[in-house]
Amino acid sequence: MERTFSIIKPDAVRAGHIGPILEMIEGAGLQLVATRMLHMTQGEAEGFYAVHRERPFFADLVKFMTSGPCLVSVLEGDDAIARYRALMGATNPDEADAGTIRKRFASNIEQNAVHGSDAPETAREEIAYFFRATEIVSR
Ligand code: CMP
Repeated sequence: MERTFSIIKPDAVRAGHIGPILEMIEGAGLQLVATRMLHMTQGEAEGFYAVHRERPFFADLVKFMTSGPCLVSVLEGDDAIARYRALMGATNPDEADAGTIRKRFASNIEQNAVHGSDAPETAREEIAYFFRATEIVSR
């Protein structure tokens, strides 16, 4: 069993896509073990994406991620990190495969509907950034 961290981003929440995205997640056999709505502050978004702070898109990314509420979740399953990344599709929706979340719901490389952790260490850090251990259930 592995855990990964997911964000349904403000573009997808605004467009009313929480339901179909969660349906795709559950349909792929990933289990929701924690979730909540959150409107990120500037400080939270800057901290979460600190690894990208030197990138030219950083300021826009923080503005986007604080533009409205998102749904943060912890997903669990065998090989959850890789399976959720496959389900999300490529960062740029133009390069995402058919049947992926980003192909269906992303607008562009920034407003790309969802985030998922890229490795076990990142998953641990990202989960701990938004959830206490007591907020995560076992199923
Ligand atoms: P995410 O998987 O959350 O990780 C970093 C985010 O930065 C990414 O999804 C996009 O929202 C955004 N991003 C990545 N590359 C670019 C880019 N070239 N231009 C604008 N935004 C980007």
